[in-house]
Amino acid sequence: MNIAARRADFPLLAIQMNGKRLSYLDSAATSQKPRAVLDAVRRYYEHDNANVHRGVYELAARATQDYEDARQKLADLVGSAPEEIVFTRGTTESINLVARSYGEVVLEPGTNVVTSAAEHHSNLLPWQQAAWHRGAEVRYVELGEDGRITPDALRSVVDDQTRIVALAHVSNVMGTVTDVAAAAEIAHAHGAVLAVDGAQSVPHRPVDVRALGIDFLSFSGHKMCGPTGIGALYGRADLLQRMEPVYYGGEMIEEVTLQGSTWKEAPWRFEGGTPNIAGAVGIGAAADYLRSIGLTAIHDHEVELANYLADRIRPIAGVVVYGPQGHRDSGVVTFNLDGVHAHDVATALDTEGVCVRAGHHCCQPLMRRLQAASTARASLYLYNNREDVDQFVDALAKAKEFFHRVAG
Ligand SMILES: Cc1ncc(COP(=O)(O)O)c(C=O)c1O
Repeated sequence: MNIAARRADFPLLAIQMNGKRLSYLDSAATSQKPRAVLDAVRRYYEHDNANVHRGVYELAARATQDYEDARQKLADLVGSAPEEIVFTRGTTESINLVARSYGEVVLEPGTNVVTSAAEHHSNLLPWQQAAWHRGAEVRYVELGEDGRITPDALRSVVDDQTRIVALAHVSNVMGTVTDVAAAAEIAHAHGAVLAVDGAQSVPHRPVDVRALGIDFLSFSGHKMCGPTGIGALYGRADLLQRMEPVYYGGEMIEEVTLQGSTWKEAPWRFEGGTPNIAGAVGIGAAADYLRSIGLTAIHDHEVELANYLADRIRPIAGVVVYGPQGHRDSGVVTFNLDGVHAHDVATALDTEGVCVRAGHHCCQPLMRRLQAASTARASLYLYNNREDVDQFVDALAKAKEFFHRVAG
């Protein structure tokens, strides 16, 4: 991968922050956007803008074509059919849609949904709510020492009463990677479905829903070089066809009478109201951009850089790195500086032009397990280079010296 050329694709990376070169290490929160995506959205508004699925005139047909082309691009990205892609606002909405429309139907007293304490709140609260509304049980798979979820641990909690196994592919805190193919096998052996939170995997590694046996996959445009406010749910065709809509209104109906109404086929029945057409065009362009670089190349680059970063900060006295202590398999590295609040660390790094996230990362149960009120997180993407990491390490060393001097 030619990183210098890739960096040149992202106009924002050229800006200065606090008078310093920008080292953007917060792509797990949201990624920067390449010119290809910015141009596609602009081109759509300048040349094709109209409402979709309604107009009979040429411009409306062009807008509809753009929107449906984007669905095809996402299908190509995850290895599905286009009818299996529902446009949503992002991962959170995708998971809520499955929990409401599928979870609340299949869960009932005596059944259970299996998830883990390492999940982002977006992959925890919808399942808790669905289970609790229906009088079903929420089970949590035990996390290993390094935060990983092993197939054995999963096997010990999934049983014939399990209806859904809901797990993140890649943890947004520990960077651990779940063996999704093994999880699918375990779920399917008990007649359950596997719902994967792909927020931190789809942008960063090849994810093929058929090869992995995934039944539902949720992901966000803004974490994969696309715009905010757009994302998708992949759902296996036969499952989507069984599901009722959650949003009722325009665009999603077949026929409406005062006595009763019928819905369009999936996925359109889930897209009530005017959709985020420009967002769809943007996420479609983002999918093309990622595929043109290659998801394997992106993954390999991030892993190499994450290991370089972790290896450089581990020897610094007082630095704790969470998650796997050996080889890391994703671009997420979460850490703390002994005796210094993560917010103070992030603020100090900011003065050196380095952007990292600090807080509970929407994972409060995991923070309790890690016995940390908050942590700082550096997360990498295809445009980061060793210079970004070195700038971060130098800033961290400087912050450490400052805070420890102040503490006396
Ligand atoms: C693992 C994981 N799941 C879900 C989400 C929620 O994504 P969004 O806010 O785009 O809906 C995030 C966002 O940080 C995440 O990292």
